[in-house]
Amino acid sequence: MEHSDTQILGPSDADLRRAAEILAAGGLVSFPTETVYGLGADARQGEAVASIFTAKNRPSFNPLIVHVASLDKASLYTKLDGNALRLAQTFWPGPLTLVLPLRDAHGLSDLVTAGLPSVGLRVPDHPIAKGILTELDGPIAAPSANPSGRISPTTARHVLAGLSGKIDAVVDGGPCAVGLESTIVGFDAEGPVLLRPGGLPAEAIEAALSTPLKRWQAGGDITAPGQLTSHYAPNAPMRLNAEKARPGEVYLGFGDRDGDLNLSRSGDLTEAAARLFGALHQLDAQKKPIAVAPIPNTGLGQAINDRLSRAAAPRPK
Ligand code: TXA
Ligand code: MG
Repeated sequence: MEHSDTQILGPSDADLRRAAEILAAGGLVSFPTETVYGLGADARQGEAVASIFTAKNRPSFNPLIVHVASLDKASLYTKLDGNALRLAQTFWPGPLTLVLPLRDAHGLSDLVTAGLPSVGLRVPDHPIAKGILTELDGPIAAPSANPSGRISPTTARHVLAGLSGKIDAVVDGGPCAVGLESTIVGFDAEGPVLLRPGGLPAEAIEAALSTPLKRWQAGGDITAPGQLTSHYAPNAPMRLNAEKARPGEVYLGFGDRDGDLNLSRSGDLTEAAARLFGALHQLDAQKKPIAVAPIPNTGLGQAINDRLSRAAAPRPK
């Protein structure tokens, strides 16, 4: 979709229906949650999710939080039991995101999870967010609605200051009550881990579970496969900026450089971003070294190249 004019919508039923229609058509809509304004896309549509990164001018792909209308809807994407179920029942709707293993055949875009086998889910507590989720009847991926590197917006005016003309619409619901992003909790083999402090105090979570929360530290040893690591990397060695495959390699093409798979024959970076993680998973399954065609380093190409170079970096065995 073109985003040249950003519509300003209000809280009426008709406007929330309009917001859901724009999302269903692959557009971007900023909407208020109780924490901050999110920049939403239908989490099942890869190109729509890719366009979040374009609008934010974000030079890297990190996994995005998937917003759902209810605990039941969250159960479509993950199995909630034990402590996770307890936290969901206690704090949803509310400013808590749970990172949990993804079900098979989940239907979410790989870009939402950044190729990880886990997903961050939350049920927001805001009538506008709920209204749009109910109208869309589907999951909404939404990071904070600010350009990369800027502070999170808590009013529609903040959103427009950063993203006017880059998104299809913003729903103005007044200022956000919490004003801080959601608290993120994951689970390792021993129990709950605080991944990001936020609007729900860690003490409240500890009280609900009657157990201390482990604090995650960057560079710490919590790297249970796919659970808490925030980067997907294939097992196969990777060679980037490859003009063509060498014997024994599989080739991930782009544009005119065709291969076993092609990220985008037409050289469209949004399409390439949407396909990136799926393509890497597919080629990795062939258990051969992966050579990747050069990707232009402009627009979403920067985030694609960032992710490819992380995937290609030497890693601990
Ligand atoms: O309050 C909020 O949480 C706001 C509003 C709009 O809901 N949203 C927000 O989303 O802050 P976002 O996409 O910026 O948060 C993404 C963060 C990632 O940087 C990562 O820390 C964590 O959520 N995350 C999401 N999925 C994950 C996963 N599968 N594994 C590990 N971390 C994940
Ligand atoms: Mg943010």
